[in-house]
Amino acid sequence: MKLAIGSDHGGTELKPIIIEYVKSLGHEIVDLGVPVGEKADYPDYGIKVAEAVANGEYDSGILICGTGIGISIAANKVKGIRCACANEVFSAKMAKEHNNANILALGARVVGTEVAKMIVKEWINAEFQGDRHLKRINIISDYENKKKA
Ligand code: RB5
Repeated sequence: MKLAIGSDHGGTELKPIIIEYVKSLGHEIVDLGVPVGEKADYPDYGIKVAEAVANGEYDSGILICGTGIGISIAANKVKGIRCACANEVFSAKMAKEHNNANILALGARVVGTEVAKMIVKEWINAEFQGDRHLKRINIISDYENKKKA
């Protein structure tokens, strides 16, 4: 799988740890910023990664801010993105199995590094269960497709 990762300044310590971990799981991952030492507004990086995933450059994305909340809200404004803020393992697994989340958002000020790695692994390895869950996701995309640009 080819992933994009992005964060605001709240996520720059956790991000390299997650990058190395994702590589150790056998995936490709590209850092879209923010660079270490720079301050950033979380919507800028949430939208940047979300657009890169939505336009097919990457299969999935990972976003990190202080809580995971702001950056997930921003990412979910991009058409076709289902970004789940999951700061524990059960939600991360369900985010893929039920919601087919194509972006995972983490809160660097909420989770420790080992828990963050477990969350990432559960989400990457889980499989979308389709069926009734697909019907529900389609309700969301139908709504998105009806909206005026
Ligand atoms: C930045 O201080 C902080 O607000 C941000 O990282 C994030 O937690 C927002 O949701």
